Amino acid sequence: MPRCSLSRTFIMAPLKVTKILCIGAGYVGGPTCAVIALKCPHITVTIVDLNQARIDAWNSADFKLPIYEPGLEDVVRQCRGRNLFFSTDVEKGILDAELIFVSVNTPTKKSGVGAGFAADLNYVELATRQIAAVATSSKIVVEKSTVPCRTAESMRTILEANSKPNCRFDILSNPEFLAEGTAISDLFKPDRVLIGSLQTPEGKAACAALAGVYANWVPEHAILTVGLWSSELSKLAANAMLAQRISSVNALSAICEATGANIDEVANAVGYDSRVGPKFLKASVGFGGSCFQKDILNLVYLSESLHLPEVAAYWRQVVEMNEYQKRRFSKRVVDTLFNTITGKRIAVLGFAFKADTGDTRESAAITIIRDFQSERAFVNIYDPQVAETQIWADLAEASPTVAPESMKKQVKICSSALEACKDAEAVVIATEWKEFKEIDWAHVYKHMKKPAFVFDGRLLVDAAKLTEIGFKVTTIGRPAL
Ligand code: UDX
Ligand code: ADP
Repeated sequence: MPRCSLSRTFIMAPLKVTKILCIGAGYVGGPTCAVIALKCPHITVTIVDLNQARIDAWNSADFKLPIYEPGLEDVVRQCRGRNLFFSTDVEKGILDAELIFVSVNTPTKKSGVGAGFAADLNYVELATRQIAAVATSSKIVVEKSTVPCRTAESMRTILEANSKPNCRFDILSNPEFLAEGTAISDLFKPDRVLIGSLQTPEGKAACAALAGVYANWVPEHAILTVGLWSSELSKLAANAMLAQRISSVNALSAICEATGANIDEVANAVGYDSRVGPKFLKASVGFGGSCFQKDILNLVYLSESLHLPEVAAYWRQVVEMNEYQKRRFSKRVVDTLFNTITGKRIAVLGFAFKADTGDTRESAAITIIRDFQSERAFVNIYDPQVAETQIWADLAEASPTVAPESMKKQVKICSSALEACKDAEAVVIATEWKEFKEIDWAHVYKHMKKPAFVFDGRLLVDAAKLTEIGFKVTTIGRPAL
């Protein structure tokens, strides 16, 4: 189905997509395109990545996939080799595809203009240039990675400047709203699918083609079609407003600790108001993940670039409150352990940024452990999903001046919660893994130094029950018992 046209203004009939390529086999591209393959058996879906090890893992005979996501293995088992393929051959993928999702990484810039705020669009640009260089037929190019507003415009400029005469590229923005840990159910039943396009006949036709893919399983009323820039901004806005909710509840948790109120009771009472709603009001040691901080900082950068300093300051405060929450939590641990943790052993349960994922990006655990290390405590870490190599890499990045040998003297990675807690003076719950709720806490207590402390950064355990066992329990958003 070549869509080459003689003239760039040629208007095509709505296109029925049969071959999709996804560039980037990460947390977004992998699950999203695996679900498209499952729901659209008539479409051939190829996912490519430059990272050979990642592709090998996607193709592994025992389905040891590179990312942990409940339900994902089952989806891949059903379609891999049928209409879902993983490869490192990016060029072939581009040549064959009618529609290409660009789902590469967009980390925050570490140097240059906008360092620490702006998104590093290098990967998006390289992928876009490669599409233009390789393609010999027309394509719909879909921006899937979360990107700053107007990135689609830059992609369009690059594609148009470099395309062959008989190829046209239509650019769409189709941000992904899945949350890690629930990615598969989010993809099966999304609240909405958002597609942004230019409001030209060609743009609308491309938009209809992508909407046609989703219509295989998403009800029509949940597929929203908007302008390109609205789509790009909506993604940043959705994440910023979700993060803002958590920072609001975390700010209230500090008041609760100081006054004797209970944050769970306050959040529950507030969430009963149907205008607020009950979801996403759980106080915590701080939000993490690859999106919230990055997207807010993007919004801050955008606001500043648009000469809107008050708007920038407003959103920046959401991130600052999150940093404060992590600092406050570490300080509470030190204060409670008689103002010093030097030489004390602390068990940190959980390293992922939330339960049901092996992802550690911006995890609060990293900051807390760095704080404990700088107080010269010994730290035992246990997480059921995060690979040991990942933990060492994250800790090294967080404390670049600490030599690896001293790091290994101070930190031990354990293979069970019980092992981590043995002989510790305090247990810190950093991730809300269900298995931490079900630990034999009486057993843990028996094998800890006394007094034995528990710091619940996730409102996970039954504080009254643990207190009965003998623990001294400190819970976020509650005064000390
Ligand atoms: C988020 C958005 O939810 C998703 O729509 C977007 O596509 C990507 O960013 P994700 O980062 O995977 O998804 O996880 P999310 O469930 O939103 O949690 C983010 C962080 O907030 C986690 O650290 C989580 O523990 C924390 N959180 C969440 C709270 O502290 N309290 C809450 O009530 C909810
Ligand atoms: P996300 O959470 O947004 O999915 P990830 O970092 O998990 O981000 O995944 C992005 C993937 O994109 C990485 O595996 C990276 O190797 C891949 N990638 C980046 N640039 C290219 C490119 N030009 N061609 C193919 N793959 C790429």
